[in-house]
Amino acid sequence: MDKTKNSLKAKFNDYVQSLETYIMFQIKQRQLELTEELIKKDRKPIALSMGAPVDMVPKFAVDTLKSVLDDPSIHTYSTPKGETYFLEAISKRMKKRFNVDVDSKTEIFSLIGSKEGIANIVRELINPSTKEFEKDIILCPNPGYASYKEMVKVSGGLCYGIQMTPENNYMPNLEEELKNLINKGYKEEKIKALIINYPNNPLGVVCSPSYMQECVDFCLKHNIILISDNAYAEIYFDENDKPRSILEFRGAKDIAVEFHSFSKPYAMTGWRLGWVCGNSEIVSMFGKLKSTIDTGIFKALQLTGAKLLESEEGEEYIKQANAKFKNKIQNFVYGLNSLGYDVKMPKAAFYLWMKIPKRYEGDSKKFADDLLEKSGIVVVPGEAFGDLGKGYVRISVVASEENLNTVIERMKIDGFQY
Ligand SMILES: Cc1ncc(COP(=O)(O)O)c(C=O)c1O
Repeated sequence: MDKTKNSLKAKFNDYVQSLETYIMFQIKQRQLELTEELIKKDRKPIALSMGAPVDMVPKFAVDTLKSVLDDPSIHTYSTPKGETYFLEAISKRMKKRFNVDVDSKTEIFSLIGSKEGIANIVRELINPSTKEFEKDIILCPNPGYASYKEMVKVSGGLCYGIQMTPENNYMPNLEEELKNLINKGYKEEKIKALIINYPNNPLGVVCSPSYMQECVDFCLKHNIILISDNAYAEIYFDENDKPRSILEFRGAKDIAVEFHSFSKPYAMTGWRLGWVCGNSEIVSMFGKLKSTIDTGIFKALQLTGAKLLESEEGEEYIKQANAKFKNKIQNFVYGLNSLGYDVKMPKAAFYLWMKIPKRYEGDSKKFADDLLEKSGIVVVPGEAFGDLGKGYVRISVVASEENLNTVIERMKIDGFQY
């Protein structure tokens, strides 16, 4: 029996074998295992782990979806690129929200959530190699969205972390990073792309407009593709911090694409709806790849998504959701500060990046485990987002106000003061 198992294992490619199960699913599994025990001691788990808003999706979206389901033609195959009405609604949205022109025919591609698109662009760019210094390189933020590293790994590339630190105000000096990379023995010509993510997961930080221009200029100078992951573009708390699109900046269309998602602004994480837009040559590559591996998004979702993007209800939903997030996060930050933690209100997104107490000596996994096992509070250890996450945890402030108050209460009672 064992022999068969071993021989089957050897069939899988090295890249897939090197993957770790996505950290959020590992945490969810652990939470499930402990649930019964935690309920018994009045510590029913409160998840502050996944970046999944808990509010109901816009009623407009649910009503629209229901109303289109009786049309038989809505149930047939779509195309990977997306239905014309969906692409045109996205083009209008990009114009209205960011004042950028993207051609619905050549510069937009529909996605089954932005995660799918980012994984596939990485796959489009990398020629796989198992040899460290021969690998194609993607520059990724460290700390950064945990999936980037695994996406690059499974494609046979190397994820080179660029350092997001308080010292550089979370805007790494790209020329310095390039010099360091070369000094370590990597080759500049192996760099395929730079991923930027502002507003940032897990840090909740934004960058200045001049830094966005710097990223474009750097990529143009070194002939590197610029990938802007703008999944959190609509989650902000002050008009002055309103996130921008990379496509607003001079020269971006020559080198950049941007990823957008319905997941966070409309709490529609399960719908799997997103898009990529920008440079037409890069966008067209999605046509080649995706037409062989998927056949597009359910047309009912595209039609609903299109109507939502164009609707007043959609706009109003975002406004109200942000007002709610602002209030909730402010209260929660206040609660954590009262326990001695040095956390600040983020400028955008709904994450808090929290330094763990000194007594844990930087072991954020231990801190996260203790919080879960003693208090039923589920957070993510900082290392999941890169080695610079050591000593921190990420808190996703998506629970209800009531549950957030319970978290502070439990931390106080269970001895989790800073
Ligand atoms: C930075 C970032 N990018 C992309 C995604 C993927 O979002 P979706 O695939 O739901 O559009 C997430 C989800 O958490 C994220 O945090």
